Amino acid sequence: MNVIDAIQQRRAIKRFDPGFKISDADKKKLLSSVMENAPSAFNLQHWRPVLVENVELRKQIREIAWDQPQVTESSLLIVLGAKVSTWEADAKHVWEGAAPEVQNIMVGAINQYYRDRPQTQRDEVMRSAGIFAQTLMLLAQEHGLDSCPMDGFDFDAMAKLINLPEDHVVCLMIAVGKSASQPYPRVGKLPYDNLITIDSF
Ligand SMILES: Cc1cc2nc3c(=O)[nH]c(=O)nc-3n(C[C@H](O)[C@H](O)[C@H](O)COP(=O)(O)O)c2cc1C
Repeated sequence: MNVIDAIQQRRAIKRFDPGFKISDADKKKLLSSVMENAPSAFNLQHWRPVLVENVELRKQIREIAWDQPQVTESSLLIVLGAKVSTWEADAKHVWEGAAPEVQNIMVGAINQYYRDRPQTQRDEVMRSAGIFAQTLMLLAQEHGLDSCPMDGFDFDAMAKLINLPEDHVVCLMIAVGKSASQPYPRVGKLPYDNLITIDSF
């Protein structure tokens, strides 16, 4: 599938076929491909996806997610968590394969960029998570799957349900499966000239 086709065909799906199953091997292939190829700030790969397999947990998540059916009907439900402390914990590790001088530059740059800047630490995690999510959804499309990005849920309750570690945050959920509903027509797209600014606001 061409990238443009995947972009145009991807829609935020509201109902999935609950009988449709993605195999564990295919889930792993899909996620591995995203993790190996999606960009992340300083290659820190902040994402820590939680695959929600437990049926009871799905029901509990649906309760804190405005009763949205995608939570229990999708074959693959990912709560996209992310590790905020990765800049400190993993900087060396993620540059291990590079030349020693590159490693030194990157580790120093990461330290300078993130240290004592909690807002930046969180922003970076969210930026990388957004790109992760879109990469996953486009790839899913290529494999004939449908998806829905979701942040319609109680984030504090979610943190409790998935036992979120102290230095992690929840970014969003992504539901993946086989669509059982027609998407609404694409509406309300804002005109190019209303959104694009040349050089400065
Ligand atoms: C961060 C984010 C959160 C969203 N949360 C939800 C959600 O909780 N439930 C839902 O049905 N759609 C959700 N959506 C889907 C949007 O409503 C949808 O992308 C938008 O209306 C455009 O439609 P399209 O994706 O089909 O082109 C979310 C989208 C994004 C990017």
